[in-house]
Amino acid sequence: MSVNMKGKNFVSINDLSFEEFYQILRTTERLKDEDEMGIRHHILKGKTLAMIFQKPSTRTRVSFETGIYQLGGVALYLGPNDLQLKRGETISDTARVLVRYVDGIMARLFDHDDCVQLATHSTKTVINGLTDLLHPCQVMTDLFTIYEKKNTLKGLKVAFMGDGSNNMANSWIFGAAKAGVHLTIGTPEGYLPDKDIVAMAQYDFSHSGGSLKVTHDPIEAVKGVDVIYTDVWASMGQEDEREKRIKLMMPYQVNSDLVKHADENYLFMHCLPAHREEEVTAEVCDSDHSVIFDEAENRLHTQKAIMALMM
Ligand code: CP
Ligand code: NVA
Repeated sequence: MSVNMKGKNFVSINDLSFEEFYQILRTTERLKDEDEMGIRHHILKGKTLAMIFQKPSTRTRVSFETGIYQLGGVALYLGPNDLQLKRGETISDTARVLVRYVDGIMARLFDHDDCVQLATHSTKTVINGLTDLLHPCQVMTDLFTIYEKKNTLKGLKVAFMGDGSNNMANSWIFGAAKAGVHLTIGTPEGYLPDKDIVAMAQYDFSHSGGSLKVTHDPIEAVKGVDVIYTDVWASMGQEDEREKRIKLMMPYQVNSDLVKHADENYLFMHCLPAHREEEVTAEVCDSDHSVIFDEAENRLHTQKAIMALMM
């Protein structure tokens, strides 16, 4: 069964119904298969995506820009110095102006509330390209990548290691809740996931059969897991805390001693950019278990699916 998602926003995985969530995964699979056969549909012919970036990006920018081009549309890159936002124009006015020109907005912002405001005041689709709270496009991609490699999602065990309070950990909670994944977050004290996110995910966890556990014991976190996931210890905007975080999070480093406790066919995943010898050693990051570059490629296919369905 397919659901009509035209005009929807994608601010958080938690906002999707189960049907919408699986429709994005199915569409991603179809677009990727077709692309590999040399078939490209110009579903978004003549459409424009405004891309607002308050923070830097390699994958998000390039995959959205090439993605909409492959669908027949164009993207406008609007960096930190390009909009009057910098001079105090409000998010709501920015949204109400941009929708007079473009067919969708993708935004990478610091404050998650700004993304919510953008979606509230936009009459066109708004896609969250990362905020301090969430990174939903990345986790949709991660789940698609796991599905591709393992042929299933429900019941799989995933360990998220390191900063349990960041945008990736929070999005993973929503993603695991939707997909029926058993997620364990291995993190030091003081870096627990957002309480509101954990509460909001309960409904989906109880319906999908997934679960969430948080532990301070790194070995317990990865015991028997199908996927070990990590992310930088200091996210964009937290650079001042880097040294402090390295000291605290070193016990959670994904290294050859730790991965021995995972399932023998475990996948190593990372949203990238990676800091080798901090959150992961080069030995693991560049091992045969690592699928980081397939994961990066899949940003393109997943975001094409999101744009094709919503814009
Ligand atoms: N993973 C990710 O979002 O990468 P960029 O910061 O390069 O966009
Ligand atoms: N947690 C990281 C993710 C980068 C894609 C950050 O926000 O910097």
